[in-house]
Amino acid sequence: MTKRLPTSVLDELSARYAVEIWKDPSGPSAEEIALHAASCTAIISQPTDRVDAALLDRTPELRVVANVAVGYDNVDVPAARERRVIVTNTPDVLTDSCATYTWGLILAATRRIAEGDRLVRRGAWHGWAIDFMLGCELVGRQLGIIGMGRIGQAVAAKAGAFGMQVAYVPSRRGDREPLRAPDGTPYRPLSLDELLVTSDIVSLHVPLGPETHHLIDAKTLARMKRSAFLVNMARGPVVDEAALAWALREGLISGAALDVYENEPSVHPDLFDLEQVVLAPHLGSATRETRTAMADLAVRNVLAVLDGRSPLTPVPGSYPPQPR
Ligand code: DGY
Repeated sequence: MTKRLPTSVLDELSARYAVEIWKDPSGPSAEEIALHAASCTAIISQPTDRVDAALLDRTPELRVVANVAVGYDNVDVPAARERRVIVTNTPDVLTDSCATYTWGLILAATRRIAEGDRLVRRGAWHGWAIDFMLGCELVGRQLGIIGMGRIGQAVAAKAGAFGMQVAYVPSRRGDREPLRAPDGTPYRPLSLDELLVTSDIVSLHVPLGPETHHLIDAKTLARMKRSAFLVNMARGPVVDEAALAWALREGLISGAALDVYENEPSVHPDLFDLEQVVLAPHLGSATRETRTAMADLAVRNVLAVLDGRSPLTPVPGSYPPQPR
């Protein structure tokens, strides 16, 4: 276990297996993981741990990597599959937490909440004024969702409360039936370009992979409305941060809110000077309830695999293991 976990299932695990927990909160280096996991049958990893072919080659006993996150771009799933190591993640339990946080970021960016907080703290507030720090309304506007998986759909489901219409990019070409809001209202399926050109808020919820790396770059940012806002709740490298800073500086878009970054915990220095970007420290799933549920699910996945049962939430392509 590369970090102490807030889980109630730990006793069950330690009653039956020898559990080694990395105590230093900054987490182990790649070398430290390799050394300590050399004879382990399971690794419970965090999104900050890299589980790649080099590590898998040094852990011959390994049967499962339980990643405590829904995203698993830190794990080389094909390399694990080749070595018959099952990879699991923690979907569902964090969906609502991430969707709620997305709305927090949308509101923070469009109503300048973080910017206003900074202004009050530095003593620069001189009282109410009719034209002071004006934001923009959400009602009647279009929320464009790129990545209409569980979290994207949960974000969309809350849009009606703010009077917004939802557009999205369908995951498969030829999806005929549009996805619908809980009240039956159809969402608008659009191509990526149509969505960028017409949306007032563009919210990213795609997994990171070769096809989504820098999906939002100088070219795609230039397609957005000058009045639009970008929200990144996916993974940092989905957005070219240097291009985003340029687009904000040049007024190509109105604002942005980021929960994730290309090289966490570093943030592109050009973003710090821009008041119109909200910078959050990767907190999408960060509630006590959700983090406990994620940790519990990861431990339960390990128990299932070590007991010879099917994992509860294997990542696509990881289970069943390839025949030898
Ligand atoms: C995830 O689960 O992928 C989140 O980004 C971690 O909070």
